[in-house]
Amino acid sequence: VSTVVAVDGPSGSGKSSVSREVARRLGLAFLDTGAMYRAATWWCLDQGVPLTDQVAVAQAVRDLPLVVGVDPDGPTVVVDGRDVGVAIRTTEISSRVSAVATNLEARAELGRRQRAVIEAERTGGWSDGRGVVAEGRDITTVVAPDADVRVLLTASEEARLARRARELHGTADAAALSATRDQVVRRDADDSTVVQFQVAADGVVTVDSSDLDLEQTVEAVLDVVER
Ligand code: CDP
Repeated sequence: VSTVVAVDGPSGSGKSSVSREVARRLGLAFLDTGAMYRAATWWCLDQGVPLTDQVAVAQAVRDLPLVVGVDPDGPTVVVDGRDVGVAIRTTEISSRVSAVATNLEARAELGRRQRAVIEAERTGGWSDGRGVVAEGRDITTVVAPDADVRVLLTASEEARLARRARELHGTADAAALSATRDQVVRRDADDSTVVQFQVAADGVVTVDSSDLDLEQTVEAVLDVVER
């Protein structure tokens, strides 16, 4: 039997690391849909597509030559034969990704591709049909509302900022927190205009990781899977 686990959450909720570890422990594939939005943004910049031109962005995303690898031990993102795994994590991409995330046609296209990966893993693919953990902003609601397990990973704004500050600056001191606040809070506000991910939809289980470390959060999600 195959298992599809959908995990959504805001920036800094820990959803990527948690989902990846859950996938690893269950032998499932891992799909980071945020990486696809980042790859699309990288492609637009690489191709000189102005991010302010919504029609051009939608077209570029439809033509995006993207291949994602779903092994949780080494997920890969390849655009036009180029490994962009590192290039899509820059602050430049982070600060521009909302242009793609708020483009409804781009969302429809990336959503279609995400559904195709999920379907492939449900019946075969890298996981041999064991299934997939897919994480993002709209997986529990739009991309895979029929997933076997649906989790909203939340955390207080304070906890999310502290995590991101440590990730980006190696510390959560006042300067690092204020540099991070700008990015995280603004991006979540931009994203919220098109996808609702702050409140759990019907049937979605909320896991609050504010007071949990990575291992405890992974166990909390595994508990939901095993219910
Ligand atoms: O970890 P964080 O949520 O900050 O970033 P990410 O998962 O790498 O996603 C990057 C961006 O992609 C998010 O800020 C959203 O703008 C967008 N995204 C989305 O709109 N829908 C998804 N299913 C996943 C990501």
